[in-house]
Amino acid sequence: MRLSKKVIAVAMASMMMVSMTACGNSNSEPAAAPAPATPAPAETQAAQEPAQTEAESVAATVAETTGEGGTVGVCIYKFDDAFMTTYRNALQEILEGKGYTVTFMDGKNDQAEQNNQINNFIAQGVDALIINPVMTSAADQIIATVKDADVPTVLINREPTAEQMSAYEKLVYVGCDARQSGTMQGELILDTENKGDINGDGKISYIMIQGDPENVDAQYRTEFSVKALTDAGMEVEQLDLQRGDWDRNKGQEIAQNDLAQFGDEIEVVFCNNDDMAIGALQAIQAAGRTVNEDIYLVGVDALDAALNEVAAGNMTGTVLNDAQGQAEGAVAAMEELLGGKTYASGEQSIYVDYVKVTPDNVADFQ
Ligand code: GAL
Repeated sequence: MRLSKKVIAVAMASMMMVSMTACGNSNSEPAAAPAPATPAPAETQAAQEPAQTEAESVAATVAETTGEGGTVGVCIYKFDDAFMTTYRNALQEILEGKGYTVTFMDGKNDQAEQNNQINNFIAQGVDALIINPVMTSAADQIIATVKDADVPTVLINREPTAEQMSAYEKLVYVGCDARQSGTMQGELILDTENKGDINGDGKISYIMIQGDPENVDAQYRTEFSVKALTDAGMEVEQLDLQRGDWDRNKGQEIAQNDLAQFGDEIEVVFCNNDDMAIGALQAIQAAGRTVNEDIYLVGVDALDAALNEVAAGNMTGTVLNDAQGQAEGAVAAMEELLGGKTYASGEQSIYVDYVKVTPDNVADFQ
């Protein structure tokens, strides 16, 4: 069973009439309701019942319909991404568990392809969209498209600016503040017995394996991981910075080349995510180095594979990128939008906290 936007709009219009809490500019759908405003004589008695009764029954209709039949289109930037696979699975379980009909599309890391997918979802008349943009730089275009079609939309994982989002009041971003994850990576290094300065030369020599640099997560993690070290008064030396595009194989290649070039000079390997860290670990082990003895290694995401390596002492630590929490937040925001809520400019980002993961607490996440 599918719920049309109109049904929600009509129900909401009735609720607003009863409760008088309507927000001035949120009734963009005409309330062409066969409304209970002018009751027929036979209904007079019912109409004399307290207004609250009607409000309650309309609310029940909305709750029932939004939970049991809306259609949701989900666009993922690419299926072949370890963290976004975990996130996608969480979204699917939550949405299907609530009775939505949900379709996932693989953007294949191609913005033009994703634009087509968004247009197709709109043409099919989906009730809501959840979009993980391929390119952060495409945000303006995506927002204009969903606004034009008047489809409530939740953006995930790649955060546009507040100004970009303010163009459309039925748009929300649910994600994390990537600065926090970078800072936590730096703190993981500061928490080691020698604060990352394994050879005691007074500076922390590191390599940085970066995600897709177009992505704010990559930019902030790169910046704030090192900032945490310098803020703590440590001297740092960047031996190399290379883009690994969130990809395990690239992480392995970059680490292998850097280990061959810089050898024991490398004290810390910062990876913007866990999948690249797992790749880097393969190179570290192949080079005969031992994590937490002669080199440190940190990632972000808390993928299952990374949790196992943290528990085994093969990664210094990681940072939980809470896929479950973000998926729950995205669905909750979507349901609020479906219920008629609109968002004021500057209040369109909803953040889920990152959490540091070390051998001490890793069991809590496994
Ligand atoms: C990051 C995550 C990466 C990758 C990226 C995709 O938040 O840490 O592993 O999934 O999103 O945009």
